[in-house]
Amino acid sequence: MAEFDDPAFYGDRWAAVYDAHHTHVNPGPAVEFLAGLTAGGRVLELAIGTGRVALPLAARGITVEGVDASAAMVERLRAKPGGDSIPVTIGDMAQVPVSGRFRLVYLVFNSLFGLLSQARQAECFASVARALEPGGIFVIECFVPDLTRFDHDQRVQARSVTEDSAIIEVSVHDRVQQRVTTQMITLDGQGMHLRPVAIRYSWPAELDLMAGQAGLRLAERYAGWDRQPFTAASDRHVSVYRRA
Ligand SMILES: C[S@@+](CC[C@H](N)C(=O)[O-])C[C@H]1O[C@@H](n2cnc3c(N)ncnc32)[C@H](O)[C@@H]1O
Repeated sequence: MAEFDDPAFYGDRWAAVYDAHHTHVNPGPAVEFLAGLTAGGRVLELAIGTGRVALPLAARGITVEGVDASAAMVERLRAKPGGDSIPVTIGDMAQVPVSGRFRLVYLVFNSLFGLLSQARQAECFASVARALEPGGIFVIECFVPDLTRFDHDQRVQARSVTEDSAIIEVSVHDRVQQRVTTQMITLDGQGMHLRPVAIRYSWPAELDLMAGQAGLRLAERYAGWDRQPFTAASDRHVSVYRRA
């Protein structure tokens, strides 16, 4: 049976509904930010998914390649206009299974946290460092952990309630593994649907340490794609690491 530790698990379980669930997340500011860093070089998106960011980036004339573990997610990308012309490798982003060097590698929307151990995340940084050309850039977008979300390491949240349906999110938190396991439960006229998500969060300083061990140096950090200042109150960060 497929399990959380299977790299394809999340994508295979979410592919059919991923885009519908994320219509409210505007890729525009990320695309603008990333487009400014390509310097005409090769660009790689890890965890490219259904192409939410890669497709508008490619539409600007930038040559984007991708890696994703889930063939089902990539099938959705392929079905969209322009989706056929983006080369995608099906594989594990911790290993960055591509050849040649890139000017820019990016991994957005908390997707680094889909690698469920510190060792797997550190492996990803090391693999990215190997795939970058000298002076190349690795951009990540992650939330800053907020443990006040949990009461005794659990959380139940009503996400949406309509005349005919309810979406409830149920999570448990493992503070030692820094892992959050969630089911998004939809109840509607068709019955009950489970959408599972597991993440292993890292603190910004922990990410910087992994990057440093891989030979990447933090060059810039913002609270969002519009380059808002990053402060102790920021709930997410966009971090730019540079290879020496
Ligand atoms: C939250 S989605 C993000 C997709 C896209 N980057 C976006 O911003 O909409 C996470 C993606 O990571 C992929 N993924 C999860 N674990 C992976 C792994 N170990 N290697 C490659 N892709 C992985 C999933 O298949 C899914 O497409």
